[in-house]
Amino acid sequence: MRVPIIAGNWKMHKLPDEAQALCQELVGSLDEYEDREIVVFPPFTALASSAKVLKGTNIALGAQNMFHEANGAYTGEVAPPMLVALGVKYVILGHSERRQHFAETDEIVNKKIKAALNHGLVPIVCVGETAAQREAGTTESVVNKQIRAAFDGMDRQVAQGVIVAYEPIWAIGTGKTATSREANRVIGVIRSTLQDIYGETAADIRILYGGSVNADNAAELMKQPEIDGALVGGASLDAESFARIVQYDD
Ligand code: PGA
Repeated sequence: MRVPIIAGNWKMHKLPDEAQALCQELVGSLDEYEDREIVVFPPFTALASSAKVLKGTNIALGAQNMFHEANGAYTGEVAPPMLVALGVKYVILGHSERRQHFAETDEIVNKKIKAALNHGLVPIVCVGETAAQREAGTTESVVNKQIRAAFDGMDRQVAQGVIVAYEPIWAIGTGKTATSREANRVIGVIRSTLQDIYGETAADIRILYGGSVNADNAAELMKQPEIDGALVGGASLDAESFARIVQYDD
């Protein structure tokens, strides 16, 4: 049984007090949801203030990135134990914005996933094709290559702890969502690749959809058999709209 996850990626938004206020609103409206995982990903600078509100609630704390070393001379980077110390449980890795603007390669993403798992963090690994790749008909090969690279050198038991997010780049922040059928289809392709690598374990790995998810399309996406959750950007910045996504089946 794959427990659904609704994850809110706040990207580079919210000062510490704004983040805390948003967490407070979410805790107030979502406290009865125990059958799904709810996670918010404030920026690093708002993790501590958010953690104060979320501690002991059904909403978990996540970070948007991290470095793969545990400490050292890496000016400006944040290490996994630093996140753990703040109460962070999940970490988004390989988001397309990091791949695009910060030159993150598949190899770096693979190192970060292994480091996250070593430190007890749950990685949410993002994969997805660009508009040009989709038009060229290479969606499956692009996504499969990213998946194989992300899971490279990881054994079955460890792989089970990884969450995948399929986020077509053309759908991120554009208001263009993949149709639920298409999202379901590509996620099915990802699951077959994982099955190829790990056999039956692939049936336990959760795969989310991300890209312009909102309160109006969440229910339809979440109904799809392969889609185990949503990674929400823009629509997670407002308490009411994020709460409505979490309540997709109400
Ligand atoms: P969006 O972002 O919901 O604003 O499209 C999704 C994401 O980048 O995770």
